Amino acid sequence: MLPKVDISAVQQGWALFYPDQTAAIGLWGVSFATNLTSDATGIGHWSEEQFGKALKEGKPKGLDSNRPLLPPMPWPNYIDLHDDDLKAIFAFLKALPPVDNVVPVPLLLADLEGK
Ligand code: HEM
Repeated sequence: MLPKVDISAVQQGWALFYPDQTAAIGLWGVSFATNLTSDATGIGHWSEEQFGKALKEGKPKGLDSNRPLLPPMPWPNYIDLHDDDLKAIFAFLKALPPVDNVVPVPLLLADLEGK
């Protein structure tokens, strides 16, 4: 649940971060940090190829047909990530204990107006 938000600063170009970093609000709308644990609601069923496409090409779920990943996910910084590093990050995340958590879909800024 998001606490009450005053979006006037966002409309002037500022971005807001929830203190635990799970939600961010900017002119793009509201994005939620995704579940990267080994659970089925996270990356439990992902292939390494999908992970690479998400991280290096900014495609949610690593699917070509998806929209670009939203800010603040800094995927353009990872375009040149070496394959060995990609494999290591993927193996580390897959080894994390599963957390059952379906993260909300992103919202439009307009969805927050009046809230
Ligand atoms: C090496 C570090 C990182 C890795 C491995 C990583 C991995 C990922 C992956 C695989 C996704 C796509 C998940 C999906 O499609 O379900 C994602 C999304 C996301 N990441 Fe990252 N990420 C990293 C760093 C960051 C940082 C530094 C931030 C924020 C400061 C961030 C914020 C987000 C957000 C908000 C999304 C969701 C974007 C959307 O809904 O379009 N990530 N991340």
